[in-house]
Amino acid sequence: MSDAKVVVLIGSLRDQSVSKQIAEAAVENSPAGVVLEVRDGLENLPFYSEETDNADALPAAVADVRATIADADAVLVVTPEYNGTIPAVLKNVIDWGSRPYGAGALKGKPVAVISHSISGRGGQWANADTRRSAEVAGALVSEELRLELGPTGELFDGIHPREHGEVVANIGTLVTDLLRVEAPAAV
Ligand SMILES: Cc1cc2nc3c(=O)[nH]c(=O)nc-3n(C[C@H](O)[C@H](O)[C@H](O)COP(=O)(O)O)c2cc1C
Repeated sequence: MSDAKVVVLIGSLRDQSVSKQIAEAAVENSPAGVVLEVRDGLENLPFYSEETDNADALPAAVADVRATIADADAVLVVTPEYNGTIPAVLKNVIDWGSRPYGAGALKGKPVAVISHSISGRGGQWANADTRRSAEVAGALVSEELRLELGPTGELFDGIHPREHGEVVANIGTLVTDLLRVEAPAAV
């Protein structure tokens, strides 16, 4: 059987991003039979516009990210919280992934969310808002498919997340659970 594919979407663009480091830890410790791949370049997606969301005008970067998500078995989001909600770069890829209406790349896709914060709340609003937005876009989300990490200053005090045994183990469990999600039976 071929490996399961999980595409990783990151809500931060900066080089030293904690989100990127958490994603690195996830990629390096993927469960057996699972390949996690970070989808870089989300900053190259234009802001969603219905004007260009058609076969004639669709930006190549959008077609590419849609194909990557559609081709994956599941999506893992790793994100900080910005001003009490999700970063614009993440919302933008969800919006592109939500269309065409009812048949977007995110439709029926299991999505898990890892949020983090310098505060002890672990980016819980970003986590909840990512799941709500992805769910409206047609993705399969649940309260259980989430990790809220923080305060990151204490949790990762001088270490890379890959060195935090408990966090690595929890990410592994999350990815395993993510791939167990099954679409609800049609009624
Ligand atoms: C524009 C902006 C808004 C932020 N808003 C919040 C917030 O609402 N809640 C929070 O816990 N942290 C907030 N932070 C702090 C981030 O959690 C922190 O900078 C985090 O490390 C950024 O993630 P990254 O390391 O992946 O880039 C904010 C940071 C920025 C730059």
